[in-house]
Amino acid sequence: MKTTIIEVHKHVGEEVTIGAWIANKRSSGKIAFLQLRDGSGFIQGVVVKAEVEESVFQAAKSVTQETSVYVTGIVREDERSPFGYELGVTGVEVIHEAVDYPITPKNHGTEFLMDNRHLWLRSKKQHAIMKIRNEVIRATYEFFNDNGFSKVDPPILTGSAPEGTSELFATKYFDEDAYLSQSGQLYMEAAAMALGKVFSFGPTFRAEKSKTRRHLIEFWMIEPEMAFYEFEDNLVVQEQYVSFIVQSVVKNCKLELGILDRDVSKLEKIQSPFPRISYDDAIKFLNEKGFDDIQWGDDFGAPHETAIAESYDMPVFITHYPTGIKPFYMQPHPERDDVVLCADLIAPEGYGEIIGGSERIHDYDLLKQRLEEHNLESDAYKWYLELRQYGSVPHSGFGLGLERTVAWISGTEHVREAIPFPRLLNRLYP
Ligand code: 4AD
Ligand code: MG
Repeated sequence: MKTTIIEVHKHVGEEVTIGAWIANKRSSGKIAFLQLRDGSGFIQGVVVKAEVEESVFQAAKSVTQETSVYVTGIVREDERSPFGYELGVTGVEVIHEAVDYPITPKNHGTEFLMDNRHLWLRSKKQHAIMKIRNEVIRATYEFFNDNGFSKVDPPILTGSAPEGTSELFATKYFDEDAYLSQSGQLYMEAAAMALGKVFSFGPTFRAEKSKTRRHLIEFWMIEPEMAFYEFEDNLVVQEQYVSFIVQSVVKNCKLELGILDRDVSKLEKIQSPFPRISYDDAIKFLNEKGFDDIQWGDDFGAPHETAIAESYDMPVFITHYPTGIKPFYMQPHPERDDVVLCADLIAPEGYGEIIGGSERIHDYDLLKQRLEEHNLESDAYKWYLELRQYGSVPHSGFGLGLERTVAWISGTEHVREAIPFPRLLNRLYP
């Protein structure tokens, strides 16, 4: 009977056949241990010389790393293995022999592993991170579907620059200038006026010359947008959503978190509501802590975000940033014109900003003025302004960066391991 590793628990005591690859192997004169992987999971196959035909034992002894095989064996419960099962092998049929697989069980440098990303994905740790990424994606759809949101897909080829013009990927759209999307937000605002509560989930492009552990050139963003939601309502959606995805991973990815040695007690604590600190207080806090390189009006760098995050064991909202360091579309504070109704959500443990969000300007004249101030007054924004001409309402939304969130939850230091094929400042291969 053909099955997969994840399904073997249904076949205890039975003989099954699994299509698999040899992840690793150990053998002596009398016994061979095959570490098998099939994409669904990892299991150990035990081949005892005295119990199988000689040709099977020889095949098991000589099989090379990453050779593909059909393995036949009896499923046994095994309390010593974290997976709980092993295979008493009765047959090994080689499908294709792998010769000189470049990634061996010894330690390799990161650049080497990145050059071999197409193969590195097969390793246990990378497999676990991809499974956690998959669970975050699955839980995202569940959360928004269960809370009355519709998924809307904004375009990838656009004529506008919601987050500023300095990091755009320019391309030609026949004779016109176009850019790869750096945020679907403006289109999601239009969609919210049609469908009420919407979310997008798509690729985002930033030609940022940043080479940090938090920056990708191409990353995936989830962007919810809600009509009639004001600043406070927006934060509640964010803390509930983030708690939900973290708890979904804790519940459904126990094995993967174990493989990654993740401290799960830190994740179990992540429950809404989240603490909040105003930008004003955050600056005071940093100055008191001895950071004399930052003053009111400056944007935070990674060390500042980490210092603030260290005071909490939860993600923390930093609210009400200065107008001057935020995009044109943010609604001003009702009593102060120097700050806007926005918040960034900073993850614990030094993973930095995972969400940027705000209430949006809904007044036509104010939005027009802001576009002018940012030198964005052009035909490309005509439709966006028009949203404020026909039944404009208060509305809010946010964007969560998938890779930073996956890096945090899986405890992976660098975002490059949180995406299958990272696009980095100096990397377009593989
Ligand atoms: O703060 P950002 O730039 O916000 C926006 O784009 C808004 N238009 C979203 C909205 O309100 N609909 O980006 C949102 C999030 C960040 O908090 C971060 O998690 C992630 O996207 N992000 C990046 N992730 C990886 N690499 C980069 N270069 C990133 N830039 C932003
Ligand atoms: Mg931001």
